[in-house]
Amino acid sequence: MKNIVLIGFMCSGKSTVGRELAKEVNYKFIDTDQWISQQMNLTIGEIFAEKGENYFRQLETNTVKGFSKNLRNTVLSTGGGLSIRQENISYLKEIGAVFFLRVSKDGVLDRLNPDVERPLLAGDKKGKKVEELLAVRNPIYEKVADFIVDTNDKSVKDIVEEIKTLLSL
Ligand code: S3P
Repeated sequence: MKNIVLIGFMCSGKSTVGRELAKEVNYKFIDTDQWISQQMNLTIGEIFAEKGENYFRQLETNTVKGFSKNLRNTVLSTGGGLSIRQENISYLKEIGAVFFLRVSKDGVLDRLNPDVERPLLAGDKKGKKVEELLAVRNPIYEKVADFIVDTNDKSVKDIVEEIKTLLSL
């Protein structure tokens, strides 16, 4: 069976769903943000602040490039900007079946957890920032995905079941 790759906007539930899904199908779970953070021994916020966004984006590319060669039996959850960078798309496709977890602007704002650092949504006017980023990114997520799963008003369990059904698991 193929690896499973989760893409989508911040707060679409990639990490939570990914962790549950991995448990259900007896796969490993990897989250690219967590992975990068561990490799660098810095939080994502610190990487953005100390090294800049471009540096972080290159770390994301290096990460999926490496994973494209050696990942097995894994659910991979990706940072919201990773699947937007053109050169990462072929690596994601090599890694496995790509699922776009779609979320609306209100869904993002409802789920935003102040304890999780999200440099792109820092400060005020969050609604406007989410709206602008979604407008640019949603068409790209849709194009990259093999499957699209709407997540608004669905439980984690429902989403996990939907993914399993789509993969005939
Ligand atoms: C980002 C999403 C974040 C993290 C970084 C940038 C983005 O991951 O990679 O803050 O560009 O959308 P999550 O999607 O897990 O929040």
